[in-house]
Amino acid sequence: MHYLVTGGAGFIGSHIVDALVEKGHSVTVLDDLSAGNVKNLSENIDKINLIQKSITDKDVLPEVCRDVDFIFHEAAIASVPFSVENPSVSHEANLTGTLNILEAARKSDVKKIVMASSAAIYGNNTEMPKTEDMPAEPMSPYAVQKLSSEYYGNVYSDLYSIDFAALRYFNVFGPRQLLGSSYAAAIPAFINAIIKGQQPVVFGDGNQTRDFVYIKDIVSANLKAMESNAKGVFNVSCNKGTSLKELLEIMGEISGVKVRPIYSKPRPGDVRYSYADYSKFSDACGWKPKVSLKDGLLETFDFFKSL
Ligand SMILES: NC(=O)c1ccc[n+]([C@@H]2O[C@H](COP(=O)([O-])OP(=O)(O)OC[C@H]3O[C@@H](n4cnc5c(N)ncnc54)[C@H](O)[C@@H]3O)[C@@H](O)[C@H]2O)c1
Repeated sequence: MHYLVTGGAGFIGSHIVDALVEKGHSVTVLDDLSAGNVKNLSENIDKINLIQKSITDKDVLPEVCRDVDFIFHEAAIASVPFSVENPSVSHEANLTGTLNILEAARKSDVKKIVMASSAAIYGNNTEMPKTEDMPAEPMSPYAVQKLSSEYYGNVYSDLYSIDFAALRYFNVFGPRQLLGSSYAAAIPAFINAIIKGQQPVVFGDGNQTRDFVYIKDIVSANLKAMESNAKGVFNVSCNKGTSLKELLEIMGEISGVKVRPIYSKPRPGDVRYSYADYSKFSDACGWKPKVSLKDGLLETFDFFKSL
């Protein structure tokens, strides 16, 4: 089978690419390398077709999608703060780019699209755990773009013969996650600080919770979503909220370092509490997370130490 992975040179996309190559599939990666890195694909670079173009470039997409059976749509500017500062740029990549992919898929023989959505769509809705039938309360342009992308995907699925599933990832972490940008997610930013003997910066009081999911579980979620009849929107989470303070304690245990964070102002658009029920997805395709937070962190520390 021929798979297209948009954003395939990024953190999550590159792990999906590795899994597809291992299964013997033919893989095309479409990535403008704005955040992704060819190094993430180094294990399989000779086995894949890498196209360095943007999903906003409508003219190239029909050719890219020709002969593609399935699409994992991971490409996006994956940052809430960036979207708050640059709503139009973010919109172009995250929503117009998604529509471009849906259009190109509709005009070729693509059978199914599995898209990366986000926990951000729930916003500050205080009901826990989050379930898919709760009203969305987007608090950032990024969240609006992911929610609108889901709507587009579902409508395309109803109107045209393309199956569509959107996976609302909670906080994904693991090797290859982007480090060194001012938009770095908490886990790579904290690990980087700890390895360098610096104080990790926590935005807010550290009591905010996140539902951390290890990259291997995200890859298996994508494969199961694609290979099953799962259609619609699904939480991909561990149904467990961990505060940033608890996270730093576990990191201290793993590294043997006494971690002394610096507390800074909360960032606009960031949500306070977040964890989610994944039973709808589990019922649809049998997926369950398998890797504990501590085991995932051990592998992630090893990766960042090896850089
Ligand atoms: N990492 C998380 O915790 C998380 C949580 C929820 C949702 N997501 C979503 O998962 C997907 C993958 O995220 P990630 O963490 O791997 O981020 P990432 O930045 O590592 O990967 C995104 C990839 O998309 C590429 N890209 C960006 N704009 C593009 C464009 N216009 N055309 C082509 N390629 C483009 C980047 O170069 C990068 O390789 C994104 O859609 C993101 O919004 C991630």
